[in-house]
Amino acid sequence: MRSVDNICNHLRRTSNRFFLMNTPRKIIVLGAGSDGLVIAEAMRQAVQAGQTIQLAGFLDDIHSVGDVIEGVKVYGRLDDWQNIPEDYRFISAIQKVRDMPRRAARIDKLGIPADRWGTLIHPSAVVAQNVSIGLGVYVAACATIQPGCSIGDFATIRAGAALGHDAVMERHTYVGPNATMCGHAILREGAHLGPNAVIQDGIEAGCFSVVGIGAAATKHVREYAVVMGNPARRIGKVRPAD
Ligand SMILES: CC(C)(COP(=O)(O)OP(=O)(O)OC[C@H]1O[C@@H](n2cnc3c(N)ncnc32)[C@H](O)[C@@H]1OP(=O)(O)O)[C@@H](O)C(=O)NCCC(=O)NCCS
Repeated sequence: MRSVDNICNHLRRTSNRFFLMNTPRKIIVLGAGSDGLVIAEAMRQAVQAGQTIQLAGFLDDIHSVGDVIEGVKVYGRLDDWQNIPEDYRFISAIQKVRDMPRRAARIDKLGIPADRWGTLIHPSAVVAQNVSIGLGVYVAACATIQPGCSIGDFATIRAGAALGHDAVMERHTYVGPNATMCGHAILREGAHLGPNAVIQDGIEAGCFSVVGIGAAATKHVREYAVVMGNPARRIGKVRPAD
């Protein structure tokens, strides 16, 4: 593992530069909401830092075709991905708390082939070597991912989040800004760990569950449950997909 000094040096060397797996050149972001704008801004900084990538536009089900959002054009609805030339790559940004059963199904039903997805990792993220990272993943600035972690397709890890050794994020999971997964913790498919929340070592958050902002999950969280507080208690549930 790197020492604190090494990490600081790494951050100094790499700040404001971005590293794109699959070396995509033109990127279409699926979803022009808040996460889409975060990813768009990350790409703008990448361009300013000299990366030869282009944020080509958004596909979005809510905004109208031709809308321009913070300087980026909407080219169509999500279903229009088939009209996008083959050298473009996609990154998904349609996550929404409590709506993940429907959002995940929406992405999966699009049927976008594996080789059309890009993965964006901010270089100030500290990622151990033996970490497996799936397709369409976004890892934001200053996230820390320790050895043995497994990151599933379409997972999002927001700025400053920390994943302890052997933590598991399944598909469509989300770890909010400054949230922590302790070692061997597991987020099952579609589970959401809110900003500043912590999930204890070896503890599992069930499919599509939500651990609220600032919560401390010290016991397993049932699928579709919404928990909050320290220690986290169940306060509601997520509506399953129809
Ligand atoms: C846990 C959560 C889902 C609950 O949402 P909700 O059921 O709509 O709850 P409400 O906002 O109606 O709040 C109900 C009460 O719980 C309190 N509350 C809400 N979230 C809380 C939390 N995380 N911890 C402690 N109390 C909380 C509210 O203050 C309110 O208290 P009151 O009844 O005394 O006024 C939500 O607060 C949350 O944490 N969302 C995650 C946000 C997120 O991850 N955003 C994206 C990443 S940036």
